[in-house]
Amino acid sequence: MCGIVGYIGKREAKQLLLSGLKELEYRGYDSAGIALFQEQGIQVFKATGKLHHLEDKLHAVSTQGLTAGIGHTRWATHGKPTELNAHPHGLTHSYVVHNGIIENYVALKKQLASTFISQTDSEVIVHLFEQHLNKGKSPTTAFTATLADLNGAYAILLITEHCPEQIFFARNGSPLQIGFSEQGLFFASSDAPLVGICQNTCYLEDGQWGIANAQEVLLFDTQHQAVTISTSPLPASSITAQKEGFRFFMEKEIYEQSTVISDILMGRLQAQHIHIEEISPDWLTTYQSITLCACGTSYHAALTGSYLLEQLAKIPTNVAIASEFRYRNPVLNPEGLLIVISQSGETADTLEVLKLVKKQGIKTLALCNVDNSSIVRLADKSLLLRAGIEKGVASTKAFSAQIMTLWLLACYWGQSKGCLHGIALQKEIQALEKTHQVLRSATSVHDRIHRLSKRYLHGHGFFFIGRDIFYPLALEGALKLKEISYLHAEGYPAGEMKHGPIALADAELFTIALMGKSRLYNKIKSNVEELSARDSTIIAIATEYFELADDLIKINAYTHPMLEFFEMLIVVQLLALEIAIRLGNDVDMPRNLAKSVTVE
Ligand code: F6R
Repeated sequence: MCGIVGYIGKREAKQLLLSGLKELEYRGYDSAGIALFQEQGIQVFKATGKLHHLEDKLHAVSTQGLTAGIGHTRWATHGKPTELNAHPHGLTHSYVVHNGIIENYVALKKQLASTFISQTDSEVIVHLFEQHLNKGKSPTTAFTATLADLNGAYAILLITEHCPEQIFFARNGSPLQIGFSEQGLFFASSDAPLVGICQNTCYLEDGQWGIANAQEVLLFDTQHQAVTISTSPLPASSITAQKEGFRFFMEKEIYEQSTVISDILMGRLQAQHIHIEEISPDWLTTYQSITLCACGTSYHAALTGSYLLEQLAKIPTNVAIASEFRYRNPVLNPEGLLIVISQSGETADTLEVLKLVKKQGIKTLALCNVDNSSIVRLADKSLLLRAGIEKGVASTKAFSAQIMTLWLLACYWGQSKGCLHGIALQKEIQALEKTHQVLRSATSVHDRIHRLSKRYLHGHGFFFIGRDIFYPLALEGALKLKEISYLHAEGYPAGEMKHGPIALADAELFTIALMGKSRLYNKIKSNVEELSARDSTIIAIATEYFELADDLIKINAYTHPMLEFFEMLIVVQLLALEIAIRLGNDVDMPRNLAKSVTVE
């Protein structure tokens, strides 16, 4: 999380830095700040909260002629979201912006024995740098000595009055890239601030560091050997997402899902079979097992994918949460494939799993929404999700794109292995083709959900329950509600309720039952009866009248479970949206969250 930007060139830096930060605001909006070189020294501006607070502060400030600086948008990891904790952090002569976590900052603070202004881990960087300078080291040696002191993940930009109009930079575990333009030199945490301004970019590798001025960039590796800069072209113009009449980006993205699904299928359904250009059947069928790994919503997609891969491709499949998997010394099948799933392609834990598994020589496939992201660049193969830019912090259309891509992949795999063919394959193809219609018509339930939502703004908790593929959907429904309404919600396998959680049941416990007709319907019916008998308030999402439901949200009946899955998905997304709107929350930028989680 956190976004960093830098600029050195001929133009006024303030506006360029602010525009860059706007593009990175999805990475954190607890505070923002910039530092600009001026004739005598460095000038710093900071504000808490969203970027517009900083913009307001800078509105009347003249920064004409100041053409170099650094900026930061923060998602708080160490220390509250206050102005003192906002970046850039500095002493009198030098300032730093940092994305990542300095794991040994407590020990370093003790060693330094200087006065710290903030509670952040990042501030040690600039103290270390100044300490090395005070010991007589040159700025470059002081910078490399500082890097050598740090343990953890970082993308760093540092400026110092000792080297006017120069930026020191380093990357280790957190994304950082350089953008090249006729207007000057840019730094950013992702492509977004550079697109439309820079023609080319250089994605830094872990361990690389350097020094830049408006004329040149010197880049070095961990051994301090000079590295030749290699660049990739950037698109000429950025596609900026607009709300297009919707109240929130999240709402628009829920409605966009039908189109996204059609885009995913484009060119992949041919006559009676499935074809995925990026992956050959021979490549797929060499693998004996699959491990799916991801975080958050993407993990829920992975879990859904495991049901589909086992059922359709008959291949043993494990699912793991990336932050757990990376530390459990996983025993991996050398004949297996690792699939990582990520909307952003920058999630630190998922990226680390990819690195760990690649080191063991195991092949990897990434399902990702952002081309050129760290995960896409590292994986052996990737399937882009085709969901377009997702602006809402709570993921919606990227989730459906992940599920759809996994479903398609499972069918393709089964077809390639020969275990999915004939009528069974045709049934899958027909359902895949029908999904976009299902998603489009499912939104007709919006008005009803809006009216219903007023009854569910209180209570001591929500349990979303489901079985089979409706269980990961229950997890996702609960996560959506938590994220944007701040109400407590849990997703649970319906059959597990009696093993503990049913103790919570009373009229103030809201059970949202995902009662898919196509899978284990009678089983979940019994589970809901058990909860109803203990007086839990039941909201059933079901295809037919269910006498125990206090509220029923009726969905269409389909014989294919995935069609029921997608119809219910719209319901749980809209329910979270409407409850959050009634509670007056900022749906697109919920408190404490960030769109891209680049720290572990
Ligand atoms: C929830 C949400 C998060 C992300 C998670 C992983 O709405 O968006 O739970 O799914 O942080 O992010 P990616 O998919 O970018 O790796």
